[in-house]
Amino acid sequence: MPDRILITGAAGQLGSALCAALESEYDLLRTDIATGPSADIALDITSAHQVDRLFSDHQPAVVINTAAFTDVDGNDREPETAQKINLLGVEHLVEAAARSGARVIQISTDYVFDGSNGPYLETDPVNPQSVYGHTKLAAEKITLAQGKNLVIRTNVLFGPDLTARASFVRWVVESLQADETIRVVDDQINNPTLTIHMADAIKIAVEREAAGLMHYGGLEFASRYQFARQIGEHFQLPLDNILPIATVELKQLAPRPLNGGLICSRMKMELGVENYNIRAALQAAFPVN
Ligand SMILES: NC(=O)c1ccc[n+]([C@@H]2O[C@H](COP(=O)([O-])OP(=O)(O)OC[C@H]3O[C@@H](n4cnc5c(N)ncnc54)[C@H](OP(=O)(O)O)[C@@H]3O)[C@@H](O)[C@H]2O)c1
Repeated sequence: MPDRILITGAAGQLGSALCAALESEYDLLRTDIATGPSADIALDITSAHQVDRLFSDHQPAVVINTAAFTDVDGNDREPETAQKINLLGVEHLVEAAARSGARVIQISTDYVFDGSNGPYLETDPVNPQSVYGHTKLAAEKITLAQGKNLVIRTNVLFGPDLTARASFVRWVVESLQADETIRVVDDQINNPTLTIHMADAIKIAVEREAAGLMHYGGLEFASRYQFARQIGEHFQLPLDNILPIATVELKQLAPRPLNGGLICSRMKMELGVENYNIRAALQAAFPVN
């Protein structure tokens, strides 16, 4: 009998890629806050009762928590909701897993750093600047208090599903197709990460029973503006309508780390995961001849 894995946030960008990567080899419990084509079981991680009942009914051996409140400005607007989903929800999962002997893989973010001197190693000091970053960091600590748990930080996730709610790729493609001008920040640097590649890396972490703190991201560091240009090139769209803008001009509620991004050498050396540049990731997500 294969290990039973609980996936939370299964309808999300990363959750759906994870289900696809794991479903042939594991017994998956695909859960999200509501059921749908990607989630068979409704599980609100903010409810301790629902989490405990799921554990007693199904006894997962591994929990991969991709459920989160990911709207960064929304977190600043609604800090109580952020606290509930990004922190309390994780606490429920970690406690239930500890009681039943399961291990947890928690997905975190480079927003735990302030972006003053990235890209960052796992050993670099954290200094979150937003409610999102603070709640995700607190969740890391709760997760890592149990020695067999794993936290994987990632950044700028994008997936092959252009219908996803917050798809940067779709926004770029649809805007350029409609001949609309888009202004994209050229001072936020990260290493964009394809969900499919991240899911493959998590699968290896599950197989190897990896624990502790690890970073996973793409091979190439780029500004959001450079990323948008590569998207335009991949879809063979004119690039003249992509204009650079500074983050400060957007007047967003929550501060963004500027020199962010994640150095992934630990995960590469210890687990042998692969990282890919943006061009390869776009080709994997949206194959063109
Ligand atoms: N996206 C990025 O660029 C990025 C970067 C770094 C790290 N991360 C981290 O990576 C993980 C996955 O991100 P993602 O982009 O795949 O997120 P996503 O697409 O927003 O998916 C998150 C899923 O969790 C669900 N959810 C929200 N509240 C829940 C609750 N109380 N109980 C159960 N499910 C709930 C959401 O449902 P609704 O849609 O109905 O709310 C959604 O289906 C998160 O931990 C995120 O913090 C993401």
